[in-house]
Amino acid sequence: MKKIIRNLIILVVVFSFLPLIPFWLMQGAGKSDNNAANVEKIQGNKGAYFSFIIFGDNHAGLIFNDAATLKEIWHMNREDRFRKVPIDFVLNVGDVALDKKRSHFVAYKKIQRLIKYPLITTIGNHDSRKFFDEFCGEREFAFGNRNSYFIVLDNEEGQLLEEQFVWLEEHLKKGAEYEHIFVSMHKPPFDPYQQEWYNIDNHPWAYRVRKLFARYKVDMVFSGHKHMFKHENFDGVDYIVTGGGGMLIEIPEADGGVLHYVRVMVNHDYVTYEVRKISPPLWEYITYYFWKEAVYWVRNFYGTGYIFGRNTRIEPLRVSGLNNREHWMKK
Ligand SMILES: [Fe+2]
Repeated sequence: MKKIIRNLIILVVVFSFLPLIPFWLMQGAGKSDNNAANVEKIQGNKGAYFSFIIFGDNHAGLIFNDAATLKEIWHMNREDRFRKVPIDFVLNVGDVALDKKRSHFVAYKKIQRLIKYPLITTIGNHDSRKFFDEFCGEREFAFGNRNSYFIVLDNEEGQLLEEQFVWLEEHLKKGAEYEHIFVSMHKPPFDPYQQEWYNIDNHPWAYRVRKLFARYKVDMVFSGHKHMFKHENFDGVDYIVTGGGGMLIEIPEADGGVLHYVRVMVNHDYVTYEVRKISPPLWEYITYYFWKEAVYWVRNFYGTGYIFGRNTRIEPLRVSGLNNREHWMKK
């Protein structure tokens, strides 16, 4: 009996690894299948009832990351199974490559080929500009889709430059002709996780861009950079951080450090979203995710929160993370 159970466990673990093999052997999408081509694909869409998917920080090119992204794609591709609402496209909020290498972009193009919807990609700080241009195309652009206007910004280096503010405002004005405005930028203009080294809350560019988004009544701003889910609202604008697209997550699960993607639904003047939490492939759970949580469990005897943050015995001042529990859909 023991032997049967042991063999069954080994079989299931091996089975969870198998999707990587065809992934390694396959060809990726062509270079011409880039941002401009994918924006073109959705131009004929009609009606004011649609959906789109957002993910980010898949960091293609590392076995752990690709395995997790493959599992996410399997779920994304089933999102339209009830045929209730069309899924127009998938938006990636950046850090598509593990770290700036050509081979990482080659892996990303395979990911693109496996996603059955048009894919629009934002540049992140781990994406080489040279390879991004070659494999994904434009870095800063805007497009209309049905009743919504989408603005994709390049802030991989951090702050937005003066000419970007000018360009952005022009497009925010254009967006006013639509019912909704959505923005994608890799680095969020706030701190999604306070006990961490990305501290941007008080930067002048972040304050300025948040005020600008509020003035033009932007509906949602999508970012990644931090490998977690986080939702905040500033001045009536929803900010969604969705950096759980595949990269090994280092943030504790209780604070939003989970593999996931986000699905947004637009129904005329309504905008809603759901977070789709994806459990890691079993082999990855055994080799990494179980141990990550175990380390935090031990750490919580002498402190709280992020392993690289400050060791503190006091309760965190802000309970970060899952303030939208009702939106969680466990797969
Ligand atoms: Fe990242």
